[in-house]
Amino acid sequence: MVVRFEILDRDLSLRRNRNPIHHIESRIKSPVSIYEKLLRYGKDPTIGNLEEYLMDVAGVRVICSYKNDVKRLMGLLRSQDDLEIVRVKNYIENPKPNGYRSLHVIVRIPVYFMDSKEMVPVEVQIRTIAMDYWASLEHDLKYKAVAETHGLDIAGELQECSKIIEDMEERMQVLANALDAGQSKHSKLGK
Ligand code: GTP
Ligand code: MG
Repeated sequence: MVVRFEILDRDLSLRRNRNPIHHIESRIKSPVSIYEKLLRYGKDPTIGNLEEYLMDVAGVRVICSYKNDVKRLMGLLRSQDDLEIVRVKNYIENPKPNGYRSLHVIVRIPVYFMDSKEMVPVEVQIRTIAMDYWASLEHDLKYKAVAETHGLDIAGELQECSKIIEDMEERMQVLANALDAGQSKHSKLGK
């Protein structure tokens, strides 16, 4: 999946002079986390249950510069006909109540072994730098279990920051569109 995204990024960069992807992160879930998640789901920790219930053993996070890049990449994923789209959760159109925004897609990708082909699930999260910034801080605050809140309404503050970031992104998108329009005019003039 990482290579597929890298190819899309290069192709767009060569043909449209755009780099939709800022960077890509990937991870494989650790055995301990797999074990804990299966128990949380009330399932025995077996390979069978892992294959049946865990869709996020392989995870790829694609961080884009602008919101439109997220849409563009999703469209390009949909057009890859050997890729099976299992589930889409659009937390950009419908943010979570805490303010979390991101596009989540579970895909199945063909993996060829010596004598078989398996459709392996991968959880893909596509988001902008700004969405990633918010999610990282929120994740930290949640897991560091900030004991002393110094009288702050942390949940309220996070929700509000998420809205500010969303507004800011709309404005940055306008700038990006202007830049794109300017560049395509130049390339039409043969520059
Ligand atoms: P789980 O995998 O059990 O979480 O259930 P799910 O697959 O239904 O969850 P979902 O697709 O909503 O989210 C999966 C992943 O998205 C999480 O493992 C996080 O990486 C990220 N995520 C979801 N919600 C939040 C959130 O509120 N804050 C942050 N920081 N990350 C989130
Ligand atoms: Mg998940």
